[in-house]
Amino acid sequence: MKRMILGSGWKMFLSDSEALAHAEAIAAYGTEAQGLELFVLPSFTALHRVTERLAGSGIRVGAQNMAWAEKGAFTGEVSVLSLKEMGVTHVEIGHTERRELFGETVATIALKLRTALQHGLTPVYCFGENAAEKRNGQTERVLAEEFREALHGIGFEEAQTIIFAYEPVWAIGVAQSAEPEEVNPIIGSLRSVLAELYPSSKEGSEFRIVYGGSVNLDNFPKLLEQPHIDGLFVGRASLVPENYAEMVRQMTRKAAEQR
Ligand code: PGA
Repeated sequence: MKRMILGSGWKMFLSDSEALAHAEAIAAYGTEAQGLELFVLPSFTALHRVTERLAGSGIRVGAQNMAWAEKGAFTGEVSVLSLKEMGVTHVEIGHTERRELFGETVATIALKLRTALQHGLTPVYCFGENAAEKRNGQTERVLAEEFREALHGIGFEEAQTIIFAYEPVWAIGVAQSAEPEEVNPIIGSLRSVLAELYPSSKEGSEFRIVYGGSVNLDNFPKLLEQPHIDGLFVGRASLVPENYAEMVRQMTRKAAEQR
């Protein structure tokens, strides 16, 4: 039985002291969350303190990026070894802001996925079509091509530990999420692509696929209802502790219904 997933990406919105205060404010909600996988992604500099604060809370902590190499001449990068020493369990890979603003490519994303898996971190692998690709009806083709490249050489068992975060680029950081009814069949088609890549799969149902992009309390219930969606990945809206608490509550209820 898959656990429903609620991810919270803090981006660069919080200073270290603000991140710690936020961790303090949400720490108690983890214990209420039965049957969920909760994770938060603070900035690198806040990881140490947030990981310490949330230890044992039921809320896991991840990094927003990492180097593909373990060690060496990689100025300004952060190693998977350091993340593990801090007790980090998740790592976001390939967020659209990393791709668009910092030149990340599918090739480096593929390397990072392998490094994370080799070291037992859970990759939160972000991908999604941009507005032009959507307009031109290329969404499914673009995403399938990226999967083939990014997942090449990754085995079926390992791929099941990845959290696939479908985040249409045009739906991030805006007022409205993508329409829940449109997201569901796209995630369904991604399961078919995964089933093709992994013939032992039962129609891609083993894979954990979440939606992200302007999730808020208004669209949360409708997104949660979509059968192909295994969870939600939230940016801005999750930075208000009361909103986060309500999201945890709604998802816990949903997870209980599914059991
Ligand atoms: P948003 O961010 O919820 O603020 O749109 C989502 C994301 O970038 O993952």
